[in-house]
Amino acid sequence: MSSTKTKIGNYEFQNCLMNAAGVYCYNREELEKIINSEAGSFVTKTATLNIREGNPSPRYYDTNLGCINSMGLPNLGFDYYLGYLLELQKTMPECTFFFSLVGLSQEETHILLKRVQESEFKGLTELNLSCPNVPGKPQIAYDLETTEKLLTEIFNYFKKPLGIKLPPYFDMVHFNQAAEVFNKFPLTFINCVNSIGNGLVINDETVVIKPKNGFGGIGGEYIKPTALANVHAFYQRLKPSIQIIGTGGVLTGRDAFEHILCGASMVQIGTTLQKEGPEVFKRITEELKAIMEEKGYKTLEDFRGKLKYL
Ligand code: SIN
Repeated sequence: MSSTKTKIGNYEFQNCLMNAAGVYCYNREELEKIINSEAGSFVTKTATLNIREGNPSPRYYDTNLGCINSMGLPNLGFDYYLGYLLELQKTMPECTFFFSLVGLSQEETHILLKRVQESEFKGLTELNLSCPNVPGKPQIAYDLETTEKLLTEIFNYFKKPLGIKLPPYFDMVHFNQAAEVFNKFPLTFINCVNSIGNGLVINDETVVIKPKNGFGGIGGEYIKPTALANVHAFYQRLKPSIQIIGTGGVLTGRDAFEHILCGASMVQIGTTLQKEGPEVFKRITEELKAIMEEKGYKTLEDFRGKLKYL
C-alpha cells in the first residue's frame, strides 16, 4: 500500500496535501473543515496585525481554467489565528499546522514574528512575501535586496521554523539570484508559488473583478507549468535543508505527482479546493496513490525530485 506521508523540517504529516493560504482558512469554521478532511495539515489565511476587510467586491472570479482574485488580504487579525493555533496545540498535540502572516510594513512584519517567537506556538510559520493584491504594496520577494535585508533582520531573533511564500519567477537569472539569497538563511521551507500577479480577465468588454480596475492574481490550471518550473528550479539550486512546498495548478493526483517529481515535499491546493470543497483532498489523494501504486512507488521519497531529462 502506497503512503503519501511526508516531512517538513522535523514535523511529520500523514498526507502531503493541504490547502493553500487564502482558501478555506479565513476562520476556524473553515479551518475545521480542512482538519476534518483528508488534508495532512492546514495553513491559515495570511494574518496581518489588525483585522482587514480586504478589497471591495467582486474580488474573486472563477474561469474555466482557474480563477482571478484580488482579495487584498482580508483576515481576522494575528491574535485570532494565533489563539486558534494555540488551542489546537492542546486539543490536537499530534498535529502540526502552518501560520501564514505578513505585516503591511517591515516594522509590522517584525512585530508579528517577534510575537510568534515569544508565544507558545510550536508549528511552522509561513511568511507571505508575495501577495500581489494590496494596492500600493509590492510583491516583496521580487525585490531581492529588500528580501535579503528583511530575512537578515528576522533571523537575528526568530529561532522557530520559518518558510516563505514566493511569487513565481520567470527567468533563469532570477532563479539563480533568488536561490543565492535564500541559501544564506536557515529557512525550513519555501513555498512556490503564489498566484501569477496582476493578470486581467475580461467578460465581453468589462473586467470581472473590481479592485485595481480588474488586475488580479491568476490561479488554477493556467499556472501549473510556471509552478512546476519554480519548484524544480529551486529544488536544483537550494541547499537540501530548505524543503519545497509546491502550489499551483493542482487539479488531479497527476498534478500533485508532478509537483513531487519536481521536488516538492508537500503540495498545496488553492483554486481546485475553492471550486470543489474539502472533499477534493480525498479524491486527489486517491488519484495520487493510484499513480504511485501503478509505478511501484511506496513512498514519496521513491520519486521526489527524480524528474527525468531528455
Ligand atoms: C489576497 O488576499 O489578496 C490573496 C493572498 C495572496 O495572494 O497572498
